[in-house]
Amino acid sequence: MRTILKLALLFALPTAILLSCSEPKEPKSFKPGQLWPDNNGKHINAHGGGILFHEGSYYWFGEHKIEGEAGNLAQVGVHCYSSKNLYDWKDEGIALPVVTGDPDHDIAKGCILERPKVIYNAKTKKFVMWFHLEWPGQGYATARSGVATSDKVTGPYTFVKSVRPNKGQWPNNVSEKMKTGGVPERVASMKFTGGEVPEHPDSLNLLARDFEVGQMARDMNLFVDDDGKGYHIYSSEENSTLHISLLTDDFLDYEGAYVREFPGRFMEAPALFKRKGKYYLIASGCTGWRPNAARSAVADNILGPWRELKNPCVGEGSDLTFKSQSTYVLPVNGKEDAFVYLGDRWTPENAIDGRYIWLPLTFEGEQPVLKWADSWDLNFFDKK
Ligand code: DGJ
Repeated sequence: MRTILKLALLFALPTAILLSCSEPKEPKSFKPGQLWPDNNGKHINAHGGGILFHEGSYYWFGEHKIEGEAGNLAQVGVHCYSSKNLYDWKDEGIALPVVTGDPDHDIAKGCILERPKVIYNAKTKKFVMWFHLEWPGQGYATARSGVATSDKVTGPYTFVKSVRPNKGQWPNNVSEKMKTGGVPERVASMKFTGGEVPEHPDSLNLLARDFEVGQMARDMNLFVDDDGKGYHIYSSEENSTLHISLLTDDFLDYEGAYVREFPGRFMEAPALFKRKGKYYLIASGCTGWRPNAARSAVADNILGPWRELKNPCVGEGSDLTFKSQSTYVLPVNGKEDAFVYLGDRWTPENAIDGRYIWLPLTFEGEQPVLKWADSWDLNFFDKK
């Protein structure tokens, strides 16, 4: 019996090795819109996310969603994944959990916690997370920014505070009229549900309305410049206008310098990046969970002035950003002029099923260009 076993092993083992070697391995690729299994075979759960590259690894932070419509509220927290190659992602667990058992906590279970982003502060050696926060039970009315920190990239992150940006500060580019003209009386009784502004926002002077309490901040992103300065970009003034704010050296607060850009253009989902010394922005319009046509813009200085360019999307599906909404633009480490557009294809009726639309971003002159691909890989950037 033993000899038979030995003989079987003798033949089986090399055959298995031979077979596994000869099995053609499918080359790694991105498949926008398809399920994207993590190391445990589960669809990645990091929506509205962003990526931090740190010490040779990528870390993807995003909203952990649950099934059904309940998943549109924060029931769990911010999920973190890590990767060396951008295709294969390891589940690193919940980096910032929502708080259970204290309904009055800023990030109590059931709050809205969206678009978390993490940056590394080289001075304090802390990882700093910012996110769009809405206190529980108030819809999208509170429009706050949450801050959390950790000594370890994957967390756990400790909640620090939530704020309304730039309380008592005028932006660098405020007009004299907005600064001194006051707020029209009708504004006090106006109800802004979901952020609609019925008139041109500058005539309502929402900036002055919020001067004492701090400005609104909803969809957001972070950006760290080559000089180590950190910036927060967010939809403000009832979503009508983007603000870009310089952060303090520790990235935990607002330094005081900020600008308002694209007034009345209702841009959401801002993703800021730098290429060849210029600053670029990809953003969306403002249509809730439904996709719309993307926007793009360029600036020589991050604090403006910014100049709006065209819809970066080209070809079939370009009017709806290939059914996605921007969440981040990722520079690929080690590749020249290689940027990846990261978008969400939301499924609010079953939030957990949201898909990821990652596409290579190219340029025609200074115009960012996005084209659909069913499947693509990072070699794309070598062939450009
Ligand atoms: C669009 C935003 O981009 C999302 O982050 C989310 O806030 C939805 N609106 C909610 O309708």
